[in-house]
Amino acid sequence: MKIIAVASAKGGVGKSTFCCGVGKMLSVHGKRVLLVDMDIGVRSLDILLGVSEKTVYNWGDIIKGNCEYRKAVTETSKELFLLPAPIDFSTEYTPESFKNMLKTFEKDFDYIFLDAPAGLESGFKLATKVADSCIILSTPDAISIRAASYASENVRKSGVSNVRLVVNRYNKKIHKSINVDEIIDSVGARLLGIVPDSVEIYGSVNGQRIPYDSKGSQAFLRISKRICGENIPFRTKNM
Ligand SMILES: Nc1ncnc2c1ncn2[C@@H]1O[C@H](COP(=O)(O)OP(=O)(O)OP(=O)(O)O)[C@@H](O)[C@H]1O
Ligand SMILES: [Mg+2]
Repeated sequence: MKIIAVASAKGGVGKSTFCCGVGKMLSVHGKRVLLVDMDIGVRSLDILLGVSEKTVYNWGDIIKGNCEYRKAVTETSKELFLLPAPIDFSTEYTPESFKNMLKTFEKDFDYIFLDAPAGLESGFKLATKVADSCIILSTPDAISIRAASYASENVRKSGVSNVRLVVNRYNKKIHKSINVDEIIDSVGARLLGIVPDSVEIYGSVNGQRIPYDSKGSQAFLRISKRICGENIPFRTKNM
């Protein structure tokens, strides 16, 4: 079981969308995936995955002993599961209690993605303190790149050395003058992938399916293969 935190110091750069997209690709290719919403109070993965009516418990309930651990997990599609965030913060949510809670899922999942909230506070800290590796998301604009570099610095301070970068919402026409190598240098992390700015991905915020053969899905697929250790070449052509 691998625990991967998905983070950035900035909101709205596509962390939750990325978790759903890559999680979906891993799951349709036979991996068992758990997405954990780390945004205490402002959760969103349940809506993105179209299961907000089905979720009852959250990971806070597991830590507090309010429910048996499997009861807090909702299957959203074959092999893709969701563990929602609690509504309120509690001092019981420490890196130790959180890590122990995740360990109970050891035999159930191949990959656990921790979808961190915007900012560098509680949800971010909890996620990055327990993760084996971290994926930092940045869109190609200067504000987002700066936020991604803060996040990368903080993740390394938490003791995570395997930090990778995903450039999201890349549009070849708009970002003509943007050099991806410069983003890599600013963030200080190896590139894991580039996701195009796409109407299909945008539509997924309202629960629409991203067609499997769309550029967006194919970008998520390439990233999911790299996560599994495959050597897949990078391309920005037609993005
Ligand atoms: N590659 C993309 N192409 C088009 N739209 C995208 C892409 N990635 C994300 N979006 C859109 O950007 C918006 C923000 O995405 P999302 O909620 O995933 O960001 P976030 O980083 O998780 O935000 P928060 O920090 O608030 O949790 C959504 O409307 C989503 O559909
Ligand atoms: Mg989010």
